[in-house]
Amino acid sequence: MNILILGSGGREHSLAWAIKQNPKCDRLIVAPGNAGIAAIADCAQIDILDGDAVAVFAEENAIDFIIIGPEAPLAVGVADRLRAAGCLVFGPSRAAAQLEASKSFTKTICDAAGAPTAAYAHFTDADSARAYIRDQGAPIVVKADGLAAGKGVIVAMTEDAALQAIDDMFDGSFGDAGAEVVIEEFMEGEEASFFVLCDGKTILPIGTAQDHKRAFDGDKGPNTGGMGAYSPAPVMTDAITKKAISEIIRPTMDEMTRRGTQFQGVLFCGLMIQNGQPRLVEYNVRFGDPECQCLMMRLGGQVLDLMQACAEGRLAETQVNWADDHALTVVMAANGYPGDYEKGSVIAGLDRQPQDSAHMVFHAGTTTKDGQVTATGGRVLNVTARGATLTEAHERAYAMAQGIDWPGGFYRSDIGWRAL
Ligand code: AMP
Ligand code: GLY
Repeated sequence: MNILILGSGGREHSLAWAIKQNPKCDRLIVAPGNAGIAAIADCAQIDILDGDAVAVFAEENAIDFIIIGPEAPLAVGVADRLRAAGCLVFGPSRAAAQLEASKSFTKTICDAAGAPTAAYAHFTDADSARAYIRDQGAPIVVKADGLAAGKGVIVAMTEDAALQAIDDMFDGSFGDAGAEVVIEEFMEGEEASFFVLCDGKTILPIGTAQDHKRAFDGDKGPNTGGMGAYSPAPVMTDAITKKAISEIIRPTMDEMTRRGTQFQGVLFCGLMIQNGQPRLVEYNVRFGDPECQCLMMRLGGQVLDLMQACAEGRLAETQVNWADDHALTVVMAANGYPGDYEKGSVIAGLDRQPQDSAHMVFHAGTTTKDGQVTATGGRVLNVTARGATLTEAHERAYAMAQGIDWPGGFYRSDIGWRAL
């Protein structure tokens, strides 16, 4: 099977690494890829937001299966374009990707499906949004409606902070994404990420994880795309998992199908759990990054069979073979991230790290320059380890991180603190 993965982050490196282990994989191409991916797959420089360009590339390279990693190509309909060209694709249509691309769309679906989530209101003008905030009081959550690369959510602990967020969003500081806002009730509890594959009929759980969104130790500092993760998430007990499926995910999927916009791909459910009750924080229509790195380490090569069955509508015939293990990933980011960060610093010591089924350094923003691995992005490396216990995975991951010589980067020293 010739496989094309779209994307260039740690998520796509871990997908490529897992898929490569499946004997069905003949040729693996990642577009555009990064320095770590280039060591295990061919990298192709194509514009992954251009469905026509991807379709032509797939045809010319006899690609059998296309896996779309990030949300941006899904939100512009690259999966639709490729399916129209007859390709087998893992990832939802543009219409189904609205579950991530529009917060008000998701709220409407939850209402129709009866799925528990925060109470909310939707606004297209600043004055009514301000009046609503004054009426509700703080804490309260202000969200830009569209895709904002994880930066469009302000959890306001005071009314002033919420009003400031409204000014910013309607001032255009969030781009087009801020022209509409959703204002939500603040939910308390413990967060977890739950990943399921859906083929329009069957829902197959493939793992749980917890992310660390803040930049610095002790959950301090600005929000980021994620500074580390571990899997499984202890808060996701069997009882909560069952409730999340029957009360949130199943009704959502049925509502999508009823509307003629059936969802196919991986659904990433951000949940808030309080007193044994899960409520939906948000959906994403792709794997989390860095959560995916933990899931791939635990699933290995079988993930190709699962994704193919999902794309072919055969999930009912499949099952996941679980090793009863744990994985943890530590993100190494460039100094300054998530603000302005340095580019071009050299990373040494990578070749001294073990790379096997229990230890992997997945690359995100890296390139090779004059034979040396060089940082090009904000989040740069994902040091990932597996263990029989979370403690073992933690020790292994941090031993690797300490062995990487990169003065231009930093990492959190407390990934997994909640579970450890
Ligand atoms: P989102 O981009 O929707 O995942 O939001 C980013 C983060 O903001 C979430 O992971 C939560 O930590 C927080 N958040 C979002 N919505 C709420 C809410 N209604 N109540 C409390 N925290 C929230
Ligand atoms: N790590 C959170 C996300 O991928 O959205």
